[in-house]
Amino acid sequence: MALKLNSAFVCPYHNPRPQSRRPRSHRVFMASTLRPTSIEVENPKKPFSPPREVHVQVTHSLPPQKIEVFKSMEGWAEKNILVHLKPVEKCWQPQDFLPDPTSEGFYEQVEELRERAKELPDDYFVVLVGDMITEEALPTYQTMLNTLDGVRDETGASLTPWAVWTRAWTAEENRHGDLLNKYLYLSGRVDMKQIEKTIQYLIGSGMDPRTENSPYLGFIYTSFQERATFISHGNTARLAKEHGDMKLAQICGTIAADEKRHETAYTKIVEKLFEIDPDGTVLAFADMMRKKISMPAHLMYDGQDDNLFEHFSAVAQRLGVYTAKDYADILEFLVGRWNLEKLTGLSGEGRKAQDYVCGLAPRIRKLEERAQGRVKQATAVPFSWIFGRKMMV
Ligand SMILES: [Fe+2]
Ligand SMILES: [Fe+2]
Repeated sequence: MALKLNSAFVCPYHNPRPQSRRPRSHRVFMASTLRPTSIEVENPKKPFSPPREVHVQVTHSLPPQKIEVFKSMEGWAEKNILVHLKPVEKCWQPQDFLPDPTSEGFYEQVEELRERAKELPDDYFVVLVGDMITEEALPTYQTMLNTLDGVRDETGASLTPWAVWTRAWTAEENRHGDLLNKYLYLSGRVDMKQIEKTIQYLIGSGMDPRTENSPYLGFIYTSFQERATFISHGNTARLAKEHGDMKLAQICGTIAADEKRHETAYTKIVEKLFEIDPDGTVLAFADMMRKKISMPAHLMYDGQDDNLFEHFSAVAQRLGVYTAKDYADILEFLVGRWNLEKLTGLSGEGRKAQDYVCGLAPRIRKLEERAQGRVKQATAVPFSWIFGRKMMV
């Protein structure tokens, strides 16, 4: 049975499932995400077992005639979507922002980077590490895009514009985790081995965006996500600048600009879907928002903290890098971007979905204000990424 949730909106990175992952018994299906017991984790003979989602995982919910829509859009996608990719020769590369290991001044440049990094507080590093880990789980996102019926890369080198986009998008995104990873390594401020373990756990766990192999749901999800990462990297850039690290600000700002370009492409696909099939698209939008947009790294784990993702999210919220308000703002932005309020020619069901999504952002904000009003017990939680030092969450 699918797990239904009506809980107040609290988690900025938006884990749509119950907060607690503590019930460890595999027989207790109270928590949505269950992990093996710590004894099992410590047993090296047992193969890796990813956290399991309890809700039913719906697959292939889109009828075949709707999948055909994407075949008919190929000419359009070729002209309108692929233009949002940058030619490799014009793209920045991580090395453009990092000390050059072949230059004589390499050690000096590393020293400067480390001096600048000293000015940044630990909680900033927690958020930057969480963002980097999210980027580093890129294999999961390419897999996710290739779950989508009608647009997946059928061969691994398919020439449909959808497949070309997915591969080139992945290749562009690959620079994000690469750059942040190398920066963090050189900074000397974080426990790289713990971070690397978290990445390995995360890729092994995958993600569950509940997009049901439907490109309608999938492209709504990616539209939301690209904007979320644009906001998040933009804010880490702003904070780096405030702490006087202009180079790091440039790194985060450059990544944010890529996310913005990707957002433009994905929102354009959904805009076209609204034009071709307004009813189907508004129903998909409402469906995605009812299920809530889970963040790509929601199954994050470091081998120690069962609530690592919630804790990372809480620090991001406290620092204003990504907040519950941002979630509502993104939704409102998309409602405006796709002109939802003016959508006509809808069925009764479509109109209901339209009313739901158009009224949702203010409702989320109200819930959030109420949640803020409640006195929250702040607790200090150790983060393995910064050598177990405790941060307030
Ligand atoms: Fe990215
Ligand atoms: Fe992205």
